[in-house]
Amino acid sequence: MYSDRVLSGMRPTGRLHLGHYHGVLKNWLHLQNEYQCLFFVADWHALTTHYDTPQVIEDNVRDMVIDWLAAGVDPAQTTLFVQSRVIEHAELHLLLSMMTPLGWLERVPTYKDQQEKLSEKDLSTYGFLGYPLLQSADILIYRANRVPVGADQVPHIEFTREICRRFNHLYGREPGFEDKARAAVKKLGSKKARLYEECRTAYQEKGDDEALESAKALLNDAQNLSMNDRERLFGYLEGSGKMILVEPEALLTEASKMPGLDGQKMSKSYNNTIALREDPEVITKKIRTMPTDPARVRRTDPGNPANCPVWQFHLVYSDDTTRQWATAGCTSAGIGCLECKQPVIDAVLAELAPIRARAAYYEDNPDQVRNILADGCERAQELARDTMRDVREAMGLTFG
Ligand code: TRP
Ligand code: SF4
Repeated sequence: MYSDRVLSGMRPTGRLHLGHYHGVLKNWLHLQNEYQCLFFVADWHALTTHYDTPQVIEDNVRDMVIDWLAAGVDPAQTTLFVQSRVIEHAELHLLLSMMTPLGWLERVPTYKDQQEKLSEKDLSTYGFLGYPLLQSADILIYRANRVPVGADQVPHIEFTREICRRFNHLYGREPGFEDKARAAVKKLGSKKARLYEECRTAYQEKGDDEALESAKALLNDAQNLSMNDRERLFGYLEGSGKMILVEPEALLTEASKMPGLDGQKMSKSYNNTIALREDPEVITKKIRTMPTDPARVRRTDPGNPANCPVWQFHLVYSDDTTRQWATAGCTSAGIGCLECKQPVIDAVLAELAPIRARAAYYEDNPDQVRNILADGCERAQELARDTMRDVREAMGLTFG
């Protein structure tokens, strides 16, 4: 139960491009081999900013999943699902909203930032203010302890941790908790019980994090504990009572080094992207017409790669030999810019060929995509329902 579980979501607001691939998706591919992973389409999240254009969402849910599969996300290893198909997220969001101080939401940095950035939209809505809490519900409902996110999302994970602690603190105490916890300690056997108590004291009195980790490891290894006792002991360790929800940790995703065609960050809003499923001829044309060092007006003018967006692509795609060839050719005007771009074109096409092929397969077999999502939603629902049973019980919602 306390083995690592990774959860991440993406908003379905457009086709995925090389920026997503080199940033988020390659990281997901790596994670899916190491952890139990759940990846979901955050369609409700998309509505917090696109509530007036639902067509955008409808068009992009399936396509985004196809892009994931095309990139190599493996549905046999990983659970893929759509947020709005697991309505328990909404229930947890509602229940958490009861104990969420307004000030905590207003202080989340993305709240004011995004309102200013997307000033053409009216984002003074209840849903937009509450969106970090919806994200908390997404995470906490799976008891996911690792959440890969970009730097901009780290405050949301911090917020989720605070919500989690507050929840466990308010609702984690069962009647007679201390007695039950002490009885559970005895069940560890005398040697482990002593070790547990020592670690607990070291953590609670001196904040010794290593002691906390050793005690957690000890509990994870203890074979003869019931699940309830194990949870009690996790809670007792940190002094909070029964640990109903699990505190997640951000796994910081490194920013992609993949620039856009114009040298700015690759982004739909800058119109400088190469989509994962872009046609090879279009890709070739896009790269051939990329701007280069403005100093190279004529073929005979030498240039400086440092001033050229194509060079950024060489840094992503080329080996040392090619880079040396490009630098020497550029600074001496020995090669023309189209020549310099050719190895980049070849590398991008080679990278995208298998992705395009897998995407074409799923486009031709929409039933498979539907089945993958149906399976994923079902698996996600099972986990979500499990958590909700405990949450409802803790919050007094057991009538009937
Ligand atoms: N808020 C994230 C974004 O805008 C997407 C997201 C929603 C998410 N729920 C999540 C990411 C849970 C990680 C975990 O990119
Ligand atoms: Fe850019 Fe290459 Fe042209 Fe130099 S030769 S300006 S690096 S495209």
